[in-house]
Amino acid sequence: MEKLYINGGRELSGVVRISGSKNAALAIMAGAILAEDVVTLYNVPRILDTQIMVELLNGLGASTRFVDMNTVTIDPRNIHCLEAPYELVSKMRASFSVLGPLLARFGFARVPVPGGCDIGARPVNFHIEGLKRLGASLHTEHGIYTAECNSLHGNSIYFDFQSAGATQHLMTAAALADGVTTIDNCATEPEVVDLANFLNSLGADIQGAGTTTIRVSGKKRLHGGEYSIIPDRMEAGTFAIIAAITCSDLKLQNAVYSHMKPMISKIVEAGADVTEDFNGLRVKCNVRLNGINIKTMPHPGFPTDMHQPIAALLSIASGTSVITENVYESRFRYVNELNRMGANIKVEGRTAVITGVERLTGAPVTATDLRAGASLICAALAAEGETEIAGIEHIDRGYENYVGKLAALGASICKGSEDSWEGLKVCSL
Ligand code: EPU
Repeated sequence: MEKLYINGGRELSGVVRISGSKNAALAIMAGAILAEDVVTLYNVPRILDTQIMVELLNGLGASTRFVDMNTVTIDPRNIHCLEAPYELVSKMRASFSVLGPLLARFGFARVPVPGGCDIGARPVNFHIEGLKRLGASLHTEHGIYTAECNSLHGNSIYFDFQSAGATQHLMTAAALADGVTTIDNCATEPEVVDLANFLNSLGADIQGAGTTTIRVSGKKRLHGGEYSIIPDRMEAGTFAIIAAITCSDLKLQNAVYSHMKPMISKIVEAGADVTEDFNGLRVKCNVRLNGINIKTMPHPGFPTDMHQPIAALLSIASGTSVITENVYESRFRYVNELNRMGANIKVEGRTAVITGVERLTGAPVTATDLRAGASLICAALAAEGETEIAGIEHIDRGYENYVGKLAALGASICKGSEDSWEGLKVCSL
């Protein structure tokens, strides 16, 4: 198993290019199932999760491949298998999002029930109830959802909670339903807007994406097309935190200010300097930051995906910070690992109380999920001495070429297996 080795405490500088959005790319790739001709997607991040989605679409019969580093072509004309395999759905929950498009286009789909994961239970009841509202019949047997319909028909859908995935899933299915679907109290994330823009570029009629009511007028068919995916606000947010935690000056090329306001306002409140640059953001920091309080919320609230990385930053801020996690019940497994590095974080229910310490020190730690991994990278870059991070397959799921990007900014970082570690240590750190 490979690990990540970071020798912290260095100031970084330079420009980092922010890659395409993971969460937009996954929803859009699944949405391409609806098209009746080839779809070409630009700015797709080359990460484990998009490669799993390529594999999944190919398994359904859609010819899908990366034709260059960040361009994917999907030819959905030969889809013939309407069942997603358990191995892929268990590796990546976003695989579940092929259910609605398969059902809308072919009237049938079988997809395994996705389980909980390291950040919480993550049920799919909104997805299932919504598909039923659109006229599908669904039942589970042997851990697999079987969904059937003659055709989907428009209806009104209301969510108890603004779920990003359910909004994307049902908007996609409704794009081919007969009549009008309205989705109320839906998610407003930039990734929802990006999916709506993509589907509209194929001929769909989706209005209101980015607000809490989306109206989808179903179409008989969608055509092929080309689309470029938005930059990843979570990757940009992570690099903003890296700039702040290492007291550096970084330019985040392609980062979109309007997608990142909740996150930027908090690091500015803590004392970092963030400005819009000609093609992105510049984040500077040369003082110790102040502790702040954060509550994670659906967009435009503070994003839950930035909870863990910003906790690393606050662990060395002055004073006490409080982070309340309102989206996932168990996004706290990173806390023990940061505490191993010298942080002072206590969890009470859904709240992390962070008492800022003067410094972190490198230690062997384990990433338990993607953003926990990002949190450990942030901490390791600021810590004195060497940090060894295990579980980096989680980080590979969502951050494109992070070792190369960080090394180009001046970080002392390398990835390797324990066998090759001595050699890597000599050459890289
Ligand atoms: N929820 C339900 N029932 C449902 C769906 C969701 O109760 O049917 C609950 C969830 O359990 C959770 C809350 O609603 O408590 C929000 O979940 P949401 O559906 O918004 O999350 P998701 O669509 O499964 C996406 C991202 C996550 C990100 C969340 C929240 C993808 C592939 N994943 O998940 O990204 O945390 O939205 O913004 O788009 C990550 O990138 O690290 C990541 C976990």
